[in-house]
Amino acid sequence: MYKSIIAIGIESSCDDTSIGIIRVDLKDKSIVAENIISKKMGLVTESQVKLHKDYGGVVPEIAARAHSERIDVCFKKVLEESNVDLNCVDIICVTAGPGLIGGLLSGVNFAKGLAFSSGKPLIGVNHLIGHALTPQMTDNLSYPYLILLASGGHCQYLAVSAANKIERLGTTIDDAPGEVFDKVAKMLGLPIFSGSEVEKYAKKGDKTRFSFPLPLVNKNDCDLSFSGLKSSVRRQVDRLVEKQSGLYVHDQRDICASFQEAMKLIFENKTKKALEIFSRVSSKEKMSFSLAGGVAANTNIRDSLKNLCKELNVRFSAPPLDLCTDNGLMIAYAGAQAYLEGKEDNMGLSPRPRWPIDIDNQKSLGFGKRGRKV
Ligand code: KG4
Ligand code: ZN
Repeated sequence: MYKSIIAIGIESSCDDTSIGIIRVDLKDKSIVAENIISKKMGLVTESQVKLHKDYGGVVPEIAARAHSERIDVCFKKVLEESNVDLNCVDIICVTAGPGLIGGLLSGVNFAKGLAFSSGKPLIGVNHLIGHALTPQMTDNLSYPYLILLASGGHCQYLAVSAANKIERLGTTIDDAPGEVFDKVAKMLGLPIFSGSEVEKYAKKGDKTRFSFPLPLVNKNDCDLSFSGLKSSVRRQVDRLVEKQSGLYVHDQRDICASFQEAMKLIFENKTKKALEIFSRVSSKEKMSFSLAGGVAANTNIRDSLKNLCKELNVRFSAPPLDLCTDNGLMIAYAGAQAYLEGKEDNMGLSPRPRWPIDIDNQKSLGFGKRGRKV
């Protein structure tokens, strides 16, 4: 039996080509919890944001081509950075879904090639489980904990009780929040169509100038909705353009600030409800909450959830920004967990564009940046 495992994780499900290598130390077939992230050996992430920036969203064909062109470059770089030879790697882990099929195929086929030529075990990983287990890898967060995944393709509250026991408590019933941030940036004609740009403009704006709706906040569950908010921003932009034949910079800033405030309030309200629901599941005296996904990089939202947890006496932990967004390290870690539970794939592994994390709980569907939501 291994005393430690070196896992390589390959991620290509959306618009980041990322490969990470991590060592996990073992005791009695379980991962030793202390300071897992300090065993990080290397991480190389190439974002495709620039390639898609003129289109207002990820273009699947462009994404697939870029992944297949860059994946071997990232692989060489990460081996160099970590000073590891492929012979020393024990397992090959790869995102097998959910995500865009072209990108997933690039990653899965590359991983199959590595596994076949080296004779190492191949493990197909659910991308959402990668996000869900990240706070354990970065902060040694012990089970059970509640996590909010909020990105360009998904938005869900997950109760994580074990690596293979994850229950979805709530989800978006329409758009994903990151996708709405991107659309708002596009409507306003900002230089980059991304949430980070909206955050930048919001910093100098007046968040009280416009009052945008907060869909579903009065409903007593933790499902979320963002399409009404998006339409309301669009109507406001149209009204201003009609009245003054365009937008001034102060209008752009005020809309960004007011929209971001609405997003913050939605997350605050829904997280409070999710924590109430989670308290019925959590066995710990003090509950734990974490967040991941690109939207979790928003300082305003992050800080408000941190304050909420402080108020409610809940332990708050958030992964560092580069591990909130898509990365190969979380896939390596989730793959190592799955391998220890006896999971191994073969050359028949095929990508799954849709792969719900909680198969018993699939009530809502919608469309997002990645296609149909999971
Ligand atoms: O997790 P991620 O890197 O990829 C997906 O799985 O989608 O998330 C990307 C999303 C984009 O929609 C982007 O606009 C959003 O995260 N995002 C932000 C911020 N930084 C990235 N949204 C709000 N504020 C930010 N600072
Ligand atoms: Zn993701």
